[in-house]
Order: sequence, then C-alpha cells, then structure tokens
Amino acid sequence: METVVSGIRSTGKLHLGNYYGAVTNFVKMQNEYNCYFFIADLHSLTTHPTPADLHGNVKHVLVEYLAAGIDPEKATIYVQSDIPEISELYLYLNMNAYLGELERSTSFKDKVRSQPDNVNAGLLTYPVLMAADIIIHKATKVPVGKDQEQHLEMARTFGNRFNRMYNVEYFPEPYAFTFSEKLVKVPGLDGKGKMGKSEGEGNAVFLSDTPEVIRKKVMRAVTDGGPTEENQAKPDAIQNLFDLMKIVSSADTYSHFDELYNKCQIRYGDFKKQLAEDMIVATNPLRERINDIASNSDYLRKVSKLGAEKARASASKTLEEVRKIIGFKRF
Ligand code: ADP
Ligand code: TRP
Repeated sequence: METVVSGIRSTGKLHLGNYYGAVTNFVKMQNEYNCYFFIADLHSLTTHPTPADLHGNVKHVLVEYLAAGIDPEKATIYVQSDIPEISELYLYLNMNAYLGELERSTSFKDKVRSQPDNVNAGLLTYPVLMAADIIIHKATKVPVGKDQEQHLEMARTFGNRFNRMYNVEYFPEPYAFTFSEKLVKVPGLDGKGKMGKSEGEGNAVFLSDTPEVIRKKVMRAVTDGGPTEENQAKPDAIQNLFDLMKIVSSADTYSHFDELYNKCQIRYGDFKKQLAEDMIVATNPLRERINDIASNSDYLRKVSKLGAEKARASASKTLEEVRKIIGFKRF
C-alpha cells in the first residue's frame, strides 16, 4: 500500500484554505492508503511563538484534524516534535542542501519580503525539514494545496540527492496529491491572493469562526460598483468570491449568481449573504465537534500518544537504515 504524509504548520486555527486545500483530502485518503498526518510544530518555531501559544496552536490543529474526520484508528496522527528522528534526518539532509537553491524558493523569498527582521536559518531550511517529514516514512503521495508544489519538488531533489550520493535506491519520490483535477487554491476574502493566516485580518474564514463572525467577514469583503457590460470578465476582488462560492455552495446557486453577474443584474449584498450562509452550513458540523473534542483532554492525550508510537516505529526504522547507509558504525 502506498504511503501518504502531510502536515500543517501549527501557527493558529485552520481556515477554509487549509480545509479544502489539504484536510478534506486527508479524510478521504485515510480509507485507501497508509496515512501519516502530523502537526508541524517544529516548522512553527520560525515565527517565535511563546511557550503558551506553541502548545495552544498544536491543540487547535489536533482538535480540528479530529473534528474534520481524521480517524486515529485509520491514520497515524502525531505531533512532529514527538518524533526526534525527523530532526535527525533534517540534519543529514541539510549537509546536501545548497544555499542557492534554498534562497531561490518562492516561499523563502516571500518571507524575506514580508518579515525582513526575522529571516532566520530555520526559514531558509524550511523545505529541508519538510522533505525530512515526508521521506522519513518513504511517502509517495502528499495531499497539499497548490502553494506547496515547489516544496515537493525540493523534497524529491533532496531524496534523490541522498540516493545518488550513497548509490542506493532508498527514498522514493513524493508527489503532491489531490482528489480534484487540479491542486486547490482557495482565495482570500480580500481578493489579493490565497486565503492565509498571515494575509491580514478578515482575509481568512476559520473553521471555528461563529456564524456571526463569518457573516461579518463576508459582508465586509470588498466589491466594486458592479458589472456594466454583459458577460464581462470579473476583476480579482469579485472572482475570489465566486471561487469561494464554487467551493461551498451548490452548483445551482453558483450558476444563479453567475448568470445575474453576466446579465449585470447582480446585487452584491444578496450574493454575499448567500455565500456567508453556505460557508456557515459547510462548517456547522465542524464547529460543534471542535468544541466537544477541545474539552476532552483524555482523548487528546490518548490520540497523540498512540500517534507518536506509530510514527516513531516507522521513523526509527528509517533512521536506523539511513545511519547505516551514511556509514555510522558502532565500535
Ligand atoms: P497558511 O498559508 O495559512 O499559513 P499553511 O501554509 O500552514 O497555511 O498551509 C497548510 C496546508 O493548507 C498546506 O497543504 C497548504 O497547501 C494548504 N493551504 C493553505 N492555504 C491554502 C489556500 N488558500 N488554498 C489551498 N490550500 C491552502
Ligand atoms: N509546509 C507545509 C505548509 O506550510 C506544512 C508542512 C510541513 C508539510 N511539513 C510537511 C506538508 C510535509 C506536507 C508534508 O503548509
């Protein structure tokens, strides 16, 4: 059976981008593959969280994974920092990761631009740690959103480089995976790009947002004066709302508003109201379960312990073999 690995950085609560880009695929994949889903808390250290925030954010992601329907009996769910072998493999891979290629990664360049005061080495080697996460379980399929494609290419590069260096065929190549025909990119409410935690207040709708908050965020989304010509192309700040509607609403609802737009009869107030209500319906079952699971500490303890045991079994087997391949020997 093919192995699947994916994770989400624990820098806050999950939003609709994380959910439709990644987590909905996790839930489907757990029935067909050998799945490892983790909470990337080591990756979150690049943002310098306080100890309390670090733990709180790990809990958010763990709870929301479970609320979304990842089943700890089917998939292995674990916290990245519980598996020290990942850090060890990261160290080995770093020896063959070159400054030039790391500096060229788009996500690194974005961070240099957006946070010039905190360009730390962890950010630079972020794709190396991500490669370690994936290849430690010899995964071939990685459910992620569109923005992670380049990281996967780097994971293949680092795995292949290890194979070539030691003349082995040890790590298989991992590829991004989705059940839809293309990798998903969920736009943000501001129409400036993808939905993301760090893209500014009001851009992201979180799975745990209350209906009132969702309505407020959607109604505040910027629109324009409306179309003036029939069938005219939609500007970014309108297209994003249609893209979101395509994701959360029925096909009929979508074509209803699309037709109104094309006939220059759309009323953005009605359109946004409908979008907000459909987002609420899509997230309703999650919201209830998030609250239940978050208050069940015993369950969370059990799930993370079981996951850590299963993930460590797989990771330590790989590291034993990797150490041998590299040439570490006991006297
Ligand atoms: P954020 O961008 O909010 O920090 P992450 O980078 O931690 O979120 O993303 C975690 C997972 O969710 C990745 O698989 C990523 O591809 C996916 N993801 C995040 N934002 C989006 C989005 N707007 N559209 C599709 N997938 C997304
Ligand atoms: N880089 C991913 C993100 O920002 C999170 C991540 C870390 C990941 N390690 C991974 C995703 C391994 C898939 C596989 O979303």
